[in-house]
Amino acid sequence: MKPIISPSILSADFAYLAKDIEMINRSEADWVHIDIMDGVFVPNISFGFPVLKYVAKLTSKPLDVHLMIVNPEKFIPEVKALGAHIMNVHYEACPHLHRVVQQIREAGMQPAVTINPATPIALLQDIIRDVYMVLVMSVNPGFGGQKFIEHSVEKVKELRELIERTGSKALIEVDGGVNLETGVRLIAAGADALVAGNAIFAAENPEGMIHAMKEL
Ligand code: DX5
Ligand code: ZN
Repeated sequence: MKPIISPSILSADFAYLAKDIEMINRSEADWVHIDIMDGVFVPNISFGFPVLKYVAKLTSKPLDVHLMIVNPEKFIPEVKALGAHIMNVHYEACPHLHRVVQQIREAGMQPAVTINPATPIALLQDIIRDVYMVLVMSVNPGFGGQKFIEHSVEKVKELRELIERTGSKALIEVDGGVNLETGVRLIAAGADALVAGNAIFAAENPEGMIHAMKEL
């Protein structure tokens, strides 16, 4: 099975966003990864719904929306209005995660739970059967172009074991510092989907890089 590739437009050229989105549309990418930050949950602000409305209009691939915000449940209707396929919320931002997961599903989207580098896999034990996907952060969220945290490979292996042990059907996605070198190891460890920002948009041939990632 080829890996699912989800290019993160956080690393795109915002002055020519339409051009970069057209590249993704033409490419072998499976999804488009959209990073929403609030300057509270993470120390950065990216873009909000007024901008994303236009991004969604131009994009032909399913949207993989990653909310790095407090109280993400407040924005379920806005994320739904974008036509999102997946809504990723952080474990660390949701004291009532089970409820939020149900709300996302009721809204007609696929719920995914995201964990920060310091959050153990074991904490997913009681939610793993209810989610479509787990997004493992392999950098501390907030910025593109950061260095991959090595321990993430072990976490992916541990998560794969948890999924098998519990009979969950959850997909495993990894986000942060993913490139051809880290990507191949993540797939060997059991990852299904790779998010990549810098590795794609800083490449000489971004469409070719997406192709190379699909071949990992
Ligand atoms: C970081 C974001 C990532 C980011 C990844 O907080 O969640 O999606 O765009 O960028 P790279 O691939 O450059 O690490
Ligand atoms: Zn992300």
